[in-house]
Amino acid sequence: MTATVDDVPDEQLDVSADRGMPQHVAIIMDGNGRWAASRGMPRTEGHRNGVKTVRDIVRQAGELGIGYLTLFAFSSENWSRPPSEVKFLMGLLRAYVRSDLKELKKNNVRIRVIGSREDLDPGVRRLLEDAEHATAECSGLELVLAFNYGARDELTRAVRKLSAQVASGGKQPDAITGEDIEACLDTAGMPDPDLIIRTSGEQRLSNFLLWQAAYAEFYFAPMHWPDFDRNAFDQALSCYKNRERRFGGLGTAVST
Ligand code: IPE
Ligand code: IPE
Ligand code: MG
Repeated sequence: MTATVDDVPDEQLDVSADRGMPQHVAIIMDGNGRWAASRGMPRTEGHRNGVKTVRDIVRQAGELGIGYLTLFAFSSENWSRPPSEVKFLMGLLRAYVRSDLKELKKNNVRIRVIGSREDLDPGVRRLLEDAEHATAECSGLELVLAFNYGARDELTRAVRKLSAQVASGGKQPDAITGEDIEACLDTAGMPDPDLIIRTSGEQRLSNFLLWQAAYAEFYFAPMHWPDFDRNAFDQALSCYKNRERRFGGLGTAVST
């Protein structure tokens, strides 16, 4: 196959960008329940304290000039938790958006929500849509809230959209490209995550960004989410800086 300069992704040609800083960081905020249990507190206290970490990390990401921060806040499988916990998490999201929207907007943060909105309470849904509209003109950090998100659900919905295009005669099956699939994902238009962080020591994706994580670097932090602080985030970022990403190529270590 002959490669031309047009085949090289723009970010690989951009000599001005800070090559060591990820453009998109995605975080699986895990361990709230265990954090609380280890202190003899109800799980909900862990979630409440987790919001404080969200505030700090969003601020830090903005200061560092990170373009996209995706936070996994509620998975499509988290509905299987006790109804009281689910209700608490819904209420916490609502409280967070209500109390922080003003400051987020002031800090030029743009909010985007990924995940299925269908099963959400209409009030929560409206609040999320309002937050997206209110910050649509912001040009700083893009804060992506993965809420009622599951990658298999996202891919299923994408397949449905593409199938509808085929059924209507607008698309030939043979002509479907990877870009067409990406355009049907909730993350359409966003760069793939460069770095995926998971707290609490668990080392799994739990149905997070399965398509988008194809070439992401992974970092597993041992502490629970409420204890993940600025220093821990700095550590994850400096670890990322020392990774060599190859994207299937040969990388820098090999000379020809
Ligand atoms: C992460 O903490 C928050 C959500 C999944 C909503 P958990 O609630 O999963 O806490 P652990 O993993 O049970 O400790
Ligand atoms: C993943 O954490 C989902 C979120 C952080 C929102 P879980 O706690 O739900 O994942 P499992 O069940 O341990 O895989
Ligand atoms: Mg968990």
